[in-house]
Amino acid sequence: GVIKEYWLSVENVTCAPDGYERYCLAFNGTVPGPQLTADWGDTLVIHVTNNMKYNGTSIHWHGVRQLNTVDQDGVPGVSQCPIAPGETFTYEFQVSQYGSTWYHSHFSLQYADGLFGPLIFNGPATADYDEDLGLLFVGDWSHTEIETLWYTARQGVVPSMENGLLNGTNTYDCSGSTDAKCLGTGTKFEMAFESGTTYRLRVINVATEGHLDFSIDGHSFTVIATDFVPIVPYETDSVLIGIGQRYDLIITANQTSGDYWIRGGWQTACANNQNAANITGILRYDSSSTSDPTTTGLTTSTYCGDEPIASLVPWVPLNVTNIPNITKEDLSFTFGSYFTWTINSSSLYLNWSDPTLLQITNNEDIFPTDYNVVSIEKTTSEADEWALLVVQDLTGFGFHPLHLHGHDFWIVGQTTGTFDGTLSSLSLNNAPRRDVAALPANGYLAIAFKKDNPGSWLTHCHIAWHVSEGLALQFVESQDEISLSTVRQQALDDLCQSWDAFTPTE
Ligand code: C2O
Repeated sequence: GVIKEYWLSVENVTCAPDGYERYCLAFNGTVPGPQLTADWGDTLVIHVTNNMKYNGTSIHWHGVRQLNTVDQDGVPGVSQCPIAPGETFTYEFQVSQYGSTWYHSHFSLQYADGLFGPLIFNGPATADYDEDLGLLFVGDWSHTEIETLWYTARQGVVPSMENGLLNGTNTYDCSGSTDAKCLGTGTKFEMAFESGTTYRLRVINVATEGHLDFSIDGHSFTVIATDFVPIVPYETDSVLIGIGQRYDLIITANQTSGDYWIRGGWQTACANNQNAANITGILRYDSSSTSDPTTTGLTTSTYCGDEPIASLVPWVPLNVTNIPNITKEDLSFTFGSYFTWTINSSSLYLNWSDPTLLQITNNEDIFPTDYNVVSIEKTTSEADEWALLVVQDLTGFGFHPLHLHGHDFWIVGQTTGTFDGTLSSLSLNNAPRRDVAALPANGYLAIAFKKDNPGSWLTHCHIAWHVSEGLALQFVESQDEISLSTVRQQALDDLCQSWDAFTPTE
């Protein structure tokens, strides 16, 4: 592997991705940010400079395993202090997986204001194709800054999002509008196919709150990977995508001419989709065509959830064994002054100035209970020991796309009903593996992962409102084995020092 070096500047900008002008946040001036690419085995070095005026930031490399590099995971309050305005932090990690993902701010709700971008690791594929089209970002988009919507969300009301974007673009109807910000300059996302060619398209849901049903009129596709995990390819004409999930699709240009809608439809049965508009882009066989497609699409799924786990057969099978204990967590909520999610009765609390990792490496008296910290220690002498986490929904609201840092996980249970506490009701053999999976309403999600990566890791709902409302846990895994080199410890200490010296102003 070689060293790949990139520079990212986090900036306050005005943008109008759908022709409606607003304040937003951008990497190097664009939404989405620039594509970062590396080969499997490379070392990525990314210098992130915070050029915003008032706010901290911190960048997370979603799904990247960070084996023995927890300090590069980019979670303020867990693995680092925020990067203060004017400061630069250099992330460095080895690329030990391959496939498609995104990088995004993990500071507050910043990714919903535009702070996300494509991250591609080249490696082997389980199917042939002629051309790689890269990532396709599908997400909802608001005409107001997310901070404003957050005030609504805290009252327990799902805020309205006016639009959605495909790779950072869409149209919005400004006819008859007297709003000076409604410029009407937006354009639809377009891509061109050549008949007979096969394409690889990496679709990702980058929404704030919505769960997708993705399809392209007149075309089916072969799914070859879920998140970073190669699977036994399967054919389908649509994929259900939770926030943060990726599907690598092989699409054959099986038509000879015409224009076709690309559809990011919101799953109609998901309560949290109630306000989002469906998103469309255009697939053309003649790139000079300017007409709107007249094709009709599939009916958007009335189911709410992930692709069924039976479809997701890992290319490399592995059975989960040696689970010495089960961590069971109950998801509920409280509604006092604000709406708050609770896990086993407590909510995530992050101390940005004193991240968990530094509490550990500085041997501080750690983990007040309100930090929502679960410790994961090896209890047997066997090399391969697995952790099992079961999250049981007691709220009836669903679903929640749960994401785990520092590991892929094996989905050993994902169903409605109440977990009976026994391993025999789980599917431990050749379970699907990924890094985001849905917790069904009135049901449970059971995930297993190897205790092989010492660190402080977050697991959280990837609905942006929900993680800010406390729907998260921290894991401290193999605490005694967590250690940082002098240089890496110094880099984190410097970051905290400049963060403490920074006084946020409005
Ligand atoms: Cu995509 Cu905790 O993040």
